[in-house]
Amino acid sequence: MLEDTEISIDKKRARESFDRAVETYDAHAALQRMVVDNMIDSLDIIRVAPKTILDIGAGTGYCARSLERLFPRAQTILLDLSPSMLAYASSKDNRWRKRQRYLCADAESLPIADGTIDFVFSSLTFQWCNDLDKLFAECRRILKPEGLLLFSSLGPDTLRELRGAWAAVDQSPHINQFIDMHDVGDAMIRAGFASPVLECDMTTVNYDDVFGVMRDLRGIGAVNALSGRRRGLSTPRTIKRMSAHYEAHRRDGKLPATYEIVYGHAWCPDPGSRAQDGSTVATFPFADIRKRK
Ligand SMILES: C[S@@+](CC[C@H](N)C(=O)[O-])C[C@H]1O[C@@H](n2cnc3c(N)ncnc32)[C@H](O)[C@@H]1O
Repeated sequence: MLEDTEISIDKKRARESFDRAVETYDAHAALQRMVVDNMIDSLDIIRVAPKTILDIGAGTGYCARSLERLFPRAQTILLDLSPSMLAYASSKDNRWRKRQRYLCADAESLPIADGTIDFVFSSLTFQWCNDLDKLFAECRRILKPEGLLLFSSLGPDTLRELRGAWAAVDQSPHINQFIDMHDVGDAMIRAGFASPVLECDMTTVNYDDVFGVMRDLRGIGAVNALSGRRRGLSTPRTIKRMSAHYEAHRRDGKLPATYEIVYGHAWCPDPGSRAQDGSTVATFPFADIRKRK
């Protein structure tokens, strides 16, 4: 749980920025699509045959459409904090829309009955939540026994270059606090999930300049939504100084932006079996799971 209110997510601010980003999201979301594709690939070896799927943080609907191709007979519920994202997703395909359900809600408080979902899917959304225990307890509550939770999120090394460059010029928080994979695993165990598996994949996106990094973040709606953020715009002078610090990372003419992608899955135990303890979280590189087809 992010107890420090300075670094907790201001949900109203997050919702407004995702609402605003709805038209630009897809053009800036190459990394997000790659992560979803990796998760969909992993379903070749994580066997599941769901009748009901919940996509938490559905965004513009890319994940739900990929899931629909894989499980054409399942009913998918798209859930998002942002009403504009849901409206956009539902407007994309009339035929497809008729078979989907849309829920505007917070992942930490799911308006869904206990034990009704076979498969909870969520890509790059959990990092927008403040209380992992609440989040995983909600996922566990709505899953049927032997239901699957599959998610991706971001780890602490994400955007370390940008975080460091901002830290060199002012003291206010600019980048979300991303949670360590081991703490995520512990929260899954506390929620009573069985056979949790976590993997971590470092990805670098290269840019011509720091403004490219910031354009992509703004384009997908990932603005500074920290409660303790400094209000008002940074001055051109501050941005110039921040940019100069970021330049220290330039290699082969490009500026890298690191993303620590955390992939996780776990099962809702059936009532007859005991949940596993914290010593049983399996962790290994995501590439391995994709090779074992
Ligand atoms: C980075 S986007 C990912 C969208 C989509 N899953 C994808 O991979 O393209 C994060 C999405 O999560 C939604 N979101 C953020 N915080 C949320 C919360 N607490 N509950 C539900 N949705 C949330 C945002 O509105 C946004 O659509």
